[in-house]
Amino acid sequence: MDRLIVVDLGGQYAHLIANRLRRLGFLADISQDILVDAGSADVKGIILSGGPSSVYEDGVPDIPEKIFELGKPILGLCYGHQLIAHKLGGKVNPGETKEYGLANIATKPSALFSGLDSDQVVWMSHGDTIGVLPLNFRIIASSEDCVTAAMENTDKKIYGLQFHPEVNHTENGMKILENFGNICNCKKEWDSENYFNQISEQIRIHAKDRKIFLLVSGGVDSVVLFTLLNKVLGKHRVFGMHVDNGLMRLDESRNVITELTNNGFDNLELIDARSLFHAALKGVVDPEEKREIIGSLFIDVISVKSDAILSSDEWLVAQGTIYPDTIETQGTENAALIKTHHNRVPKMQELIDQGKVIEPLSHLYKDEVRLLGKKIGMHPDIIGRHPFPGPGLGVRILCNDQSEPDLSSLNDSLRKIEASAFVIPIKSVGVQGDNRTYRHPALVPFSKDWDKLEKLSTKITNNIQEINRVVMIVKQMKCAFRLLKRTITEDRIQLLQQADSLVTQIITRAGYYDKIWQMPVVLAPLSIQGGETIILRPVDSQEAMTANFSKLPLALVNKLGEELLKIEGVDAVFYDITNKPPGTIEWE
Ligand code: XMP
Repeated sequence: MDRLIVVDLGGQYAHLIANRLRRLGFLADISQDILVDAGSADVKGIILSGGPSSVYEDGVPDIPEKIFELGKPILGLCYGHQLIAHKLGGKVNPGETKEYGLANIATKPSALFSGLDSDQVVWMSHGDTIGVLPLNFRIIASSEDCVTAAMENTDKKIYGLQFHPEVNHTENGMKILENFGNICNCKKEWDSENYFNQISEQIRIHAKDRKIFLLVSGGVDSVVLFTLLNKVLGKHRVFGMHVDNGLMRLDESRNVITELTNNGFDNLELIDARSLFHAALKGVVDPEEKREIIGSLFIDVISVKSDAILSSDEWLVAQGTIYPDTIETQGTENAALIKTHHNRVPKMQELIDQGKVIEPLSHLYKDEVRLLGKKIGMHPDIIGRHPFPGPGLGVRILCNDQSEPDLSSLNDSLRKIEASAFVIPIKSVGVQGDNRTYRHPALVPFSKDWDKLEKLSTKITNNIQEINRVVMIVKQMKCAFRLLKRTITEDRIQLLQQADSLVTQIITRAGYYDKIWQMPVVLAPLSIQGGETIILRPVDSQEAMTANFSKLPLALVNKLGEELLKIEGVDAVFYDITNKPPGTIEWE
């Protein structure tokens, strides 16, 4: 089958490029050995990914010159684009200003932009720029801040883009990638039938005659994997366990078990470990520590019940890990750490090192898992459910054990941009450039104008690096917030479950559940009169690597605010107006 290869040069988005190409119908994957792959007859084209390095520094990701002599089309993106220039005799200059975010480019006629208007909005994330083009290249797109936004050498079919076509914010990104696939004469032969066959085959090869044990969190990935394993190996060789960790959504555990039992699966056991998890999280504040505790306890809980399973050669453990889970946990050689995923805590890592874990979905994105679920006949309501993190509400209950920090100088900088904004004394996780950040959000007043709010949000996070997120006030009694000292307690879990369930009901009734990718509801220890604050984080996304905050109808936003404020213990409601990057989807 014809295929395209992506060379991972260290960016967060390397694998996303392969996902996008597969979505277009081209078989594409990350190259494990560039020289072997590039020389292979079925490989029709090569894509060089972005990455955080500078080409002129020592020890940075590199490519063999030989690939330029194979006569195969090459497309470099961001760092890949600069590496082409650097290797072929051009010059890359250190950037004086970093350019993150949307940019307008003007393009010239090129096969890469075939069928597109000459004015386009693209997403840039770079410091360095190409100052001198390599011989026989010409510029085919420029932006105000970047002259060489795109270049080509049509004789050799080598192309470079300073921007990221794989990221949703680039409006014609998919078309540009499709144009490149066509330049490569690569046939579109990839579909969900191929996924199913390929993954089923991998499961059979890995499992041999062994049985498979897996934890079914109830999320889309683990439920699809459980169903798939049953289909491929038969019920008698699969045993699922659902642990109620006490951090689930309201009635979630009961619903998961009922759903799967109704589908004929009797090889699934429920473990009620609520009190164990609650006790282990007592007094814990740090987000990474919470993740560590929740992840390790999962293993402890299952070990009690399944020691024999874990030590026996007859059993393997399966995990529903998907690609974004590993990339954001520094799962590839060159990527930077965004957060520790619960599937990669040390105890699970030990089992992985012992070769006892299989992760059949680890190359897929959520949209591909859903396709697979559909292919094996799963109900749309099950595969259409919003993603829910393994550590559950544990990453949505913000904790604090510090007194109010002094934020006056940060507030001074913020007020130069928006006089009525202020910095809030809690912190949340974000991703800026290719790195993970843990910083304060800014709070801005209510406005009906989403576009204005989006511009304001981008302006604040672009100009003040110490702020990684912006929220808007939806409803509150008064504006004097007090920072509370709070950890995860049963009262707080119940309060959040109640708020989260109410939000799900309201958006479902309004017909918005299926339009939103995911809508975390977060509890923050910010108080006005003894209660706390609820933060709404609805996002639109295709794979959670990047996301835009959802611009819900204002009547719905108002309704959510009004109804949430009726809950005893809720003092204020905020709405997160940050895209990812710079804010992650979860707050942690
Ligand atoms: P972030 O917050 O990094 O989240 O933008 C990206 C996607 O991953 C989900 N998420 C997790 N899923 N275990 C999971 O199974 C985890 O530890 C975890 N942390 C985040 C998140 O809900 C979003 O869909």
